Amino acid sequence: MKERLVELKEEALNKVAEAEDAKQLQEVRVAYLGKKGPITEVLRGMGKLSKEERPVIGQLANEVRETIAGEIETKQQQLEKVALEKQLKEEALDVTLPGRPNPTGGPHLLTKLIEDIEDLFIGMGFEVAEGPEVEQDYYNFEALNLPKGHPARDMQDSFYITEELLMRTHTSPVQARTMEKHEGKGPVKIICPGKVYRRDTDDATHSHQFTQIEGLYVDENVRMSDLKGVLNAFAKQMFGQSREIRLRPSFFPFTEPSVEMDISCKMCHGDGCSVCKGTGWIEILGAGMVHPNVLRMAGFDPEKYSGFAFGMGPERIAMLKYGIDDIRHFYTNDVRFLKQFHHA
Ligand code: DAH
Repeated sequence: MKERLVELKEEALNKVAEAEDAKQLQEVRVAYLGKKGPITEVLRGMGKLSKEERPVIGQLANEVRETIAGEIETKQQQLEKVALEKQLKEEALDVTLPGRPNPTGGPHLLTKLIEDIEDLFIGMGFEVAEGPEVEQDYYNFEALNLPKGHPARDMQDSFYITEELLMRTHTSPVQARTMEKHEGKGPVKIICPGKVYRRDTDDATHSHQFTQIEGLYVDENVRMSDLKGVLNAFAKQMFGQSREIRLRPSFFPFTEPSVEMDISCKMCHGDGCSVCKGTGWIEILGAGMVHPNVLRMAGFDPEKYSGFAFGMGPERIAMLKYGIDDIRHFYTNDVRFLKQFHHA
């Protein structure tokens, strides 16, 4: 019996050593230490032993059992440790690896520029107004002192929908619409960005659809010097503090007097170069004092109120600011072009 126990011990310890995972180890435990296991069986057969042998064998059996149990315990801890190490290794993260960037979109260059210009004018007390792109002939022309048959209407070849409806050719109709809403009471201080449409053949400098930003300030005692101050602040913030502005006489039916504003050339600072075609100045926008007829038609008393207005093209401003040479880049949406301005 003694030999049998020693044999069992050897056998069990070998099996423990061979066990490769928790499941196999559990099988060894059940096989050797379980109620139906061989050791229990040995103990059961002890009745046949002599009085002297019984305690010796009993003690040995217990020792064998404890040794096996102890080894199983040790082995179990060892297996758990190996399993944990394996898991840690498999699930290891290298936190020093650079992240995989998630490509995200961004606002279109024009959208961003228009928002920046809005912010700039909001900072000077202007509000943002909107008007319809499908416009009545009345607001697009007549209310702006361009009666039917006026020669200046020829300047703006338009997309007509019916006799009385067209795609607006400029954002100026929003001036008339907004003033009407104010029912003859100032101040009105707005800028209105939006899309406009003209029957132009697309080329590097023309597009049948482009954007404009209109500005209007009507109140008592608004003077030309106010216009100049606002435009000067705008130009300096948009293009840089070192840029100068100048106003040149011009003509628009809805303003009197009318001007065009130039900024000094970034390249030559006024000396003349190829960018400014030798003049030292670059044209940026049209402006003027709101024509009394325009005020009157929109319900404002020109004896009491005066105002200034201006209109600019964000595409032109972006082209000057970033050196873009073709207006079609804004609309053909080549991602390689657009991406360059995500952080502009
Ligand atoms: N509406 C003019 C255009 O489309 C731009 C313009 C010029 C707007 C002078 C104005 C202005 O408000 O005062 O060319």
